[in-house]
Amino acid sequence: METGLKGKTVLLSGASGGIGSEIARYFTREGAKLILTYLDDERGKAEIKLLEETLKDGRPPGEYITVVADLTVESEVDKIYKAGEDKYGRIDILVACAGVWSETRNVADRPLKEWNMAFKLNSTADFLLTRGFFRNLRKYKEDRAVVVYIGSTAGMIGEAYHHDYAATKSAIIYGLAQSLRVEILDYARLGRVNVVCPGWCATPITEEMLKDKQFVHEITSTIPLRKVATPKDIAAAVIYMASDELSGHVTGGVLTVGGGMNGRLLHGELKPITEDLKPY
Ligand SMILES: NC(=O)c1ccc[n+]([C@@H]2O[C@H](COP(=O)([O-])OP(=O)(O)OC[C@H]3O[C@@H](n4cnc5c(N)ncnc54)[C@H](OP(=O)(O)O)[C@@H]3O)[C@@H](O)[C@H]2O)c1
Repeated sequence: METGLKGKTVLLSGASGGIGSEIARYFTREGAKLILTYLDDERGKAEIKLLEETLKDGRPPGEYITVVADLTVESEVDKIYKAGEDKYGRIDILVACAGVWSETRNVADRPLKEWNMAFKLNSTADFLLTRGFFRNLRKYKEDRAVVVYIGSTAGMIGEAYHHDYAATKSAIIYGLAQSLRVEILDYARLGRVNVVCPGWCATPITEEMLKDKQFVHEITSTIPLRKVATPKDIAAAVIYMASDELSGHVTGGVLTVGGGMNGRLLHGELKPITEDLKPY
């Protein structure tokens, strides 16, 4: 199926992460030009190796540049745009994927420092990235442009003991994205802003937890499909949202990739595990 992403310039944050690196590989297979950004150069280099392998899989390769930057620092975000513009000029698509989970605590025990840090990393960083993207669009006006935020089911239905993380994601899904689906039209007549919300996904963040069968049993008891996502599930949804060919009439959309998860089992006992439960 034609996605029309060949030759499009994509700025992807969190490109070294479990989900972000898969998104990078999907875009590169489509022949997009990538500006990949992440914080830890070592982890980034390891993922870039895998990306290079992807470039060898026979499809017309996309190009890429990498920029190591801390998204909590305003001047570092400006640095990403400077590098991106120097290389490609206009940036067509922003995928804001970087994000961090939080410590498990009751709100009564949450230090203000952790709350503020969660917002800095998950909400303010997305604001800074988006502002840079809109400034680029203003400079290079065209009809089309796309923003895809990576939200979380936590931001839609809450996540007990990770209230700070959940609140940062709600800010993006409901406040930022729903406002900017209109503001983007100032600089791109057919510009679109959408959100992909993963539920549980197997990445380095969740790897250890998902080795515990009882834990997998507990979380999948609230998921109709009874499994967690893999980064491929999320990357495919991002490609759909980024492609004007596939989702050109979708804006302000929130695509949940959570296996139908609708909350947590709070009361009553879990049934015993009766089968060999696979996490994905
Ligand atoms: N995994 C899940 O179950 C799940 C579920 C729902 C939503 N999500 C969301 O999906 C997104 C990706 O998650 P993931 O599981 O792939 O996480 P991950 O593997 O930990 O990746 C996180 C990415 O964010 C980058 N990052 C963190 N702090 C940064 C900073 N200050 N400046 C720049 N980059 C920074 C990391 O860069 P370095 O590696 O260089 O530090 C990494 O590339 C996040 O927004 C997360 O909230 C994940």
